[in-house]
Amino acid sequence: MVKEKILVIGASGQIGVELTLALRKIYGNSSVVASDLREENDLLKGTGPYVSLDIMNKEMLHVQVIRQNITQIYLLAAILSATGEKNPGLAWNLNMQGLLNVLDIAKDENLTRVYWPSSIAVFGPTSPRKNCPQQTIIEPITVYGISKYAGEFWCNYYFQRYGVDVRSLRYPGLISYKSAPGGGTTDYAIEIFQEALTEGSYECFLKEDTYLPMMYMPDAIRATIELMESPVEKISIRTSYNISAMSFSPAEVAAEIRKYIPEFKITYKPDYRQAIAESWPQSIDDSTARRDWNWKPEFDLAGLCADMMKNLKG
Ligand SMILES: NC(=O)c1ccc[n+]([C@@H]2O[C@H](COP(=O)([O-])OP(=O)(O)OC[C@H]3O[C@@H](n4cnc5c(N)ncnc54)[C@H](O)[C@@H]3O)[C@@H](O)[C@H]2O)c1
Repeated sequence: MVKEKILVIGASGQIGVELTLALRKIYGNSSVVASDLREENDLLKGTGPYVSLDIMNKEMLHVQVIRQNITQIYLLAAILSATGEKNPGLAWNLNMQGLLNVLDIAKDENLTRVYWPSSIAVFGPTSPRKNCPQQTIIEPITVYGISKYAGEFWCNYYFQRYGVDVRSLRYPGLISYKSAPGGGTTDYAIEIFQEALTEGSYECFLKEDTYLPMMYMPDAIRATIELMESPVEKISIRTSYNISAMSFSPAEVAAEIRKYIPEFKITYKPDYRQAIAESWPQSIDDSTARRDWNWKPEFDLAGLCADMMKNLKG
């Protein structure tokens, strides 16, 4: 059996920190190399190897893969939806070239597996709003969504043409308390908890009735690892799997927070992110992931709120 050695790229980000720690628990600290353009996140310090790396520098990446005997890459470095709209060229370059660099190296070095996340941002205003299916009309209107959709087809291409075992999930908005969010349209659902506890109030950048698909980070980490550990014959989707856990609006999460902080006040001042949110589905059909590799979420809104409150107060 191959002893896996994993490289996590973008390890200091919102998902990267928790995914790196989870992988280190399974594979051992020294078998998971964390890397990022920015400095090592404090939560990672002392837990395993860290290298500074720019995903755009293919040669440097290639050298690290060879030098560290890497067998798997988790590629998390990207520019997210809201930040991407401020600098479309940069978002396209980083999100596309970063992925192509990794896929090429995976092909050349015969890596056993690659993970690359897509997003519900692939969907656009012409996609079904409710229970959006795996295969449907997909016409994204953000540069982030365009880059994710193109990326999905590159993953499929490298699998079909070169046999690179690259796997992917279309994450919904991810909610966590450990590391800061990275500039997405669903970031309000994290800020709201932090400001409820520190300020007792929150001004939301989305309208009160804006429903979006969401997931608590422990479910997202588990989904990622379960997908990556599934036998190859279970994987029928080589673009990216829909996955889902819950769907809620700012008004609903505010009502849930009031169960813990009765005096909590929310006001609404929608900005450019409202249009992005309205272009996405409100809920996602993840029946293919459930069928193929037994995906099942554990956290609903009440469970998420209870856990966020416990940990943020902690
Ligand atoms: N967080 C969410 O809600 C969400 C939802 C859907 C999809 N995703 C996807 O998951 C992945 C990770 O998202 P995240 O929320 O952790 O993002 P994040 O912005 O928090 O983290 C991304 C990390 O990549 C690093 N990075 C940026 N440019 C780099 C470069 N050139 N070389 C090396 N590292 C670089 C950043 O420093 C950062 O630490 C992305 O592909 C994102 O599109 C996230």
